[in-house]
Amino acid sequence: MATGTMGYETCAMATFLSLLLVSSLTLSAAQMSPASLTGSAGPYTVRIACGSSVETYDPNGYVWQKDWGFTGGSSAPLTFPNPKAPQIITLRYFSKFDGPENCYNITVPTGRYLIRLFFAFGEQDNAGREPQFDVSIEGTLVHNMDSGWSKERENFQDSLAFVSDGAATICFHSSGHGNPVVASIEVLQILDDAYKIADQESRSYIWKTMKRVSAGARKSGFGSDFLADPWGGDRYWESDNSLFLPGSIVQSISTVQNISNAAVTPNIYPMDIFQSATTTDPMQSLSYILPVDNNRLYSIWIYLAEISPFVVRPRDRVFDVLVNEEKIFSEVDIIAQAHRPFKALILNATVMVDDASSLELTFNPLFGPVAVNAFEIYELVPIEAPTLKTDMWAMQLLKQSLRLPATYGWNGDPCVPLAHIWFGVDCRFNNSATSWFIDGLYLDAQGVRGVLGEEIGLLSGLQILNISHNTLQGSIPQSMGNLSSLVVLDLSYNQLNSSIPVNLGNLPHLRKFVSNNEGLCGVGLRPCSQANSGGKAVRITAFVVSLVIVLTAGLVFLYWKKRANMARAQKLARGAPYAKARTTFVRDVQMARTMFTDHFRPAHIRDPAFAPIPSQSSTLLGST
Ligand SMILES: *[C@@H]1O[C@H](CO)[C@@H](O)[C@H](O)[C@H]1NC(C)=O
Ligand SMILES: *[C@@H]1O[C@H](CO)[C@@H](O)[C@H](O)[C@H]1NC(C)=O
Ligand SMILES: *[C@@H]1O[C@H](CO)[C@@H](O)[C@H](O)[C@H]1NC(C)=O
Ligand SMILES: *[C@@H]1O[C@H](CO)[C@@H](O)[C@H](O)[C@H]1NC(C)=O
Ligand SMILES: *[C@@H]1O[C@H](CO)[C@@H](O)[C@H](O)[C@H]1NC(C)=O
Ligand SMILES: *[C@@H]1O[C@H](CO)[C@@H](O)[C@H](O)[C@H]1NC(C)=O
Ligand SMILES: *[C@@H]1O[C@H](CO)[C@@H](O)[C@H](O)[C@H]1NC(C)=O
Repeated sequence: MATGTMGYETCAMATFLSLLLVSSLTLSAAQMSPASLTGSAGPYTVRIACGSSVETYDPNGYVWQKDWGFTGGSSAPLTFPNPKAPQIITLRYFSKFDGPENCYNITVPTGRYLIRLFFAFGEQDNAGREPQFDVSIEGTLVHNMDSGWSKERENFQDSLAFVSDGAATICFHSSGHGNPVVASIEVLQILDDAYKIADQESRSYIWKTMKRVSAGARKSGFGSDFLADPWGGDRYWESDNSLFLPGSIVQSISTVQNISNAAVTPNIYPMDIFQSATTTDPMQSLSYILPVDNNRLYSIWIYLAEISPFVVRPRDRVFDVLVNEEKIFSEVDIIAQAHRPFKALILNATVMVDDASSLELTFNPLFGPVAVNAFEIYELVPIEAPTLKTDMWAMQLLKQSLRLPATYGWNGDPCVPLAHIWFGVDCRFNNSATSWFIDGLYLDAQGVRGVLGEEIGLLSGLQILNISHNTLQGSIPQSMGNLSSLVVLDLSYNQLNSSIPVNLGNLPHLRKFVSNNEGLCGVGLRPCSQANSGGKAVRITAFVVSLVIVLTAGLVFLYWKKRANMARAQKLARGAPYAKARTTFVRDVQMARTMFTDHFRPAHIRDPAFAPIPSQSSTLLGST
C-alpha cells in the first residue's frame, strides 16, 4: 500500500510568527569535480541510462552507461525528464513477451550501496497508462509500484542494500497491470557501517527509504547539489516546505555558519542539512505524518544542530520526540547533548508500527520552541533468504538446455521474492541451510523442445518432475539417478529415445514413474537390446496416459515424515498478497493442462491474441 514517496500533512499550528534568522542556503564552495569523486579511493558507482544505446554525461559530469547486455526488454522514449540526468531520453520496459521476471545483474564489489531507480512511463511502452509492478533487490521484494505511484512528483525510489555476491540484482516483476518500466538505475557505494543501529545487523535488512527531509531547506536536492561527501550515496533530501498544508504556521531558520561533526565516518551527511531547520512558536508541537504499512519495522533518524542565535544555553530548548504518540527520545536538549551550538547531534530509534496505517513523527516542546534540521525514515525490509546456489545454477543451465521460450522469464532467483516464484517452479525452505530449494518442476504441456540436461541431477531436493506432453529430444540424463528425493517423475509424451538409466530404479522414494516415449527402452519397457520386440513389449495408445511403476510403497511413510519437517513454500506463496496474475505464452506454448491442487502454481491466463494450438501429443504417440 505504502510506497516510497508520500504526501504529508502537518499538525503544526502556531499563533504568531516570530522571525528568526532567515538567510539563504548558499553553495559557496566550488563545484566538486566528478573526477575527485570517482578516483580509486572513492566509492564504487554505477549509473545506467536504461534503454539507452549510448553513453552520456549528466550536468555534473557523471557518466551514465548504456544498458545493453544487462537484461532483456525493449527501449522506448522517455517522456518525463529524469531529475538526476536530464540528458537521458530513453527508458526500458518489459512486455509480456519478456516474461514476468526481468533483472539487471550489475557487477559490483562486495559492499553497501544506495540503489536508486527512477521510474517513468510513456506512450510506446504502456500506451500512456500507469503500469503496476514490483521491484526486488537482491531477491527481496522492496518496492511495490502500486496504483497511483506516478502521481508523486519525484518518481524515484531508493534503498540501501548490502551486496556480497558479486552483483547487485534488481528485478522487475510483472503484476499483470501493464509493462514494468525503469528509466535509470544508480548503484552508489556507501560506507559498510553507516547507519549502525542498536542490537541489529544493518545488513540483514534492505533499508527502503520512506522519507528523507531537509527541514527548512529552500529547495529539495541531491547530495551532489549539497556538495555532500560522495560516500553519502548522493541521497535526495526533500525540503519540507511542500509538506505543510497551506496556512500552517511554521518557520524556516538557516545559517551559513559551518556545522561541526556533520560528516564523521561512517556517518556522512551534507553539512547543508544541518544549516537549516523548521521551528514553531514556543510550546507548539510539530508533526510529520507518513502513510505506512503496519507490522513493519522502521528506522528513524533525527538530525539536529542548534543554529538559532536565541538558543545558547542548555534548557533553552528542550523537547520530546514521539512516534505515534510513543516517546522515542525524551528531553532532547541539543546544546546540552552536543555540548555546543553549530554541532551535529544524530539520534536514531527503531520502531515497530504494528497497529496503524500511518507513522506520525512529532516534536513536542518542553521548554522553548522545537526545532528539527533533518530526518530520515527507513522501512527495514528483512532480507529474503536466497535459493541454494547449486539449484540456482542448475536452473539457469536448465533454462538453456530446455530452450524455454522468453515468455517464461526465469530470471533472477527462482524462489525469491516469494511473491514472484518462477513459473512452473515449486520451492521449499530448508531451515538448517537457511535457503530455498526446488522441490517441484511442472513444465508439462509447455511446448518445451530442448533436451533435459545433466544439470537436472543437481536439483538434489527435487521431488516432483512433470515435463510430459512436450517435444523433448535426446535421452534421459544419467544424473537423474542422483535425484534421491524424487517421488514422481513424468516424462510421458515426448520424443525421448535411448535407454532409461538403470540407476533410476534405485531411487528410494520414487513412487510414480511415467514414461511414454516411443524411442525409450529399459526399465519397465522393451529391452534395449531387442530392437524388434518393442511393439510386443509395450503397446501405448493415446489414451494410456500413464505407466505407473510403484517402486517403493513402504517408503511413502518416511517421505511424508520428512516432508513435514520442512517449511512449505507453496503455502506461503498462495497466501502471498502479490500472487501472480499474469503469465503469458508465445505461439508454441500449449495451454491444455489442469491445475494441481496441492502445489503452488501461478494462475494461467491465456493471451487472446494467440489461437489455441492443437495438442501435438497425438502425433507423437501410437504403438511402437
Ligand atoms: C550476476 O553476476 C554475477 C557476478 O558477475 C555472476 O556470478 C552471476 O552468475 C550473475 N547472475 C546472473 C543471473 O546472470
Ligand atoms: C543508533 O542508536 C543506537 C542505540 O540508541 C546506538 O547504539 C547507535 O550507535 C546509534 N547509531 C548511530 C550511527 O548513531
Ligand atoms: C567553513 O569551513 C571552511 C573550511 O572547512 C572554511 O573555508 C569556511 O570559511 C568556513 N565558513 C564559515 C562561514 O566559517
Ligand atoms: C538441508 O540443508 C542441510 C545442510 O546444508 C542438508 O544437510 C540437508 O540435506 C538439507 N535438506 C534437504 C531436504 O535438502
Ligand atoms: C503431468 O501433467 C499432465 C498434464 O499435462 C497430467 O495429465 C499428468 O497426470 C501429470 N503427471 C503426474 C505424474 O501427475
Ligand atoms: C552423481 O553425484 C555424484 C556425487 O555428487 C557425482 O560424482 C556424479 O558425477 C553424479 N552422477 C551424475 C551422472 O551426474
Ligand atoms: C536420439 O535422438 C537424437 C536426435 O533427437 C539422435 O541424434 C540420437 O541418435 C538418438 N539416439 C538413439 C539411441 O536413438
